[in-house]
Amino acid sequence: MSIKQVQIFDTTLRDGEQVPGCKLETDKKLLIAERLEHMGVDVIEAGFPISSPGDFHAVSEISKLIKNVKVCALSRAVNGDIDAAYDAVKHAKYPRIHTGIGTSEVHIVKKFNSNKEEVLRRAFSAVKYAKSKVEDVEFYAEDAGRTENSFLAEVCEQAILAGATVLNIPDTTGYCMPSEYGAKIKYLLENVKGIHKVQLSTHCHNDLGLATANAIAGLENGAQQIECTMNGIGERAGNTSLEEVVMILKQPQYEQYATRINSKLLVETSQLVSDLMGMPVQPNKAIVGSNAFAHSSGIHQDGVIKARETYEIIDPRDVGVDESQIVLTARSGRAALAYRAKVIGFHLTKLELDSVYKYFLKVADSLKEVNDKELKTILTANGLKANLK
Ligand code: KIV
Ligand code: ZN
Repeated sequence: MSIKQVQIFDTTLRDGEQVPGCKLETDKKLLIAERLEHMGVDVIEAGFPISSPGDFHAVSEISKLIKNVKVCALSRAVNGDIDAAYDAVKHAKYPRIHTGIGTSEVHIVKKFNSNKEEVLRRAFSAVKYAKSKVEDVEFYAEDAGRTENSFLAEVCEQAILAGATVLNIPDTTGYCMPSEYGAKIKYLLENVKGIHKVQLSTHCHNDLGLATANAIAGLENGAQQIECTMNGIGERAGNTSLEEVVMILKQPQYEQYATRINSKLLVETSQLVSDLMGMPVQPNKAIVGSNAFAHSSGIHQDGVIKARETYEIIDPRDVGVDESQIVLTARSGRAALAYRAKVIGFHLTKLELDSVYKYFLKVADSLKEVNDKELKTILTANGLKANLK
């Protein structure tokens, strides 16, 4: 079986940083960029240099610091933007300019008051201009998700003719269903002249909660790069989540795919991004949420205590979490109570367990969660003593 190496293009510092309240100073961006490089991403999209002097500065500093992976700067299909992107990213060992234009009817008519011929011309000339500055030029067809496939194919052909190395097919508004997005990638692979000379990239937004599913559908249909962010942060409902993609591709169904990411660094990287951006991670967030490996109902706890795989498809250690958590609540059963009691030094006999369980349920009903201190109080109030073995 030949392994398909999937390129992970991280845009936490560009699309992720566009989130209201997530703006970062350069020193914090440098910390995140270094961590992303260490974790094994292939491309770091560092920012949108024309957007502000602060962003320009951050992209230049990241470009000077990062030595092992590509550093990318965003621009619109405007020469001034491309100049700024180049000036900021030119220090990078592996610089990339990411330029593009809206291609859907609504973008062409309502945003640009333009027409398809003009968009084709601007796509070609933006890539050509960026190409005069760097070898590695990625083209994005903004709102590709709502662009009719035949016109999207024409735009892609222009970008390839002008020298693009990567074609990004963004579902900018999170509009597509996975089958539709996958079919779009397949259509481009089958209908665009020269498509096999370039890489196809997914860039999916999460407005309908489908950003990760769409990225995977893109991959299954021939895309080679996935654009994503840590914790799935990004405009509105966010982007494809990096940690979800990495762990999906580690499941047996996807054994023919590989990324360079060291998954053991996922949780600590997620926390770093969350702390620096002041953007908490929802507890039930897949892979990196605080409840991702926590079990609180009696049936699940009993299973996990007997064999972790009964209710977990991921070993928590694979993402940098020491162990699964057995959380005591009023829904917990005897197995969980005995297990947590043992952790704090109380080895209960069956009789002791039966007698304390009813009392435990009464107390648990009045609490959201029973912590170790409260558990100790419950056990000692029932005449039980710690008997560390
Ligand atoms: O969502 C989008 O279309 C984008 C492009 C600028 C790449 O973020
Ligand atoms: Zn985006």
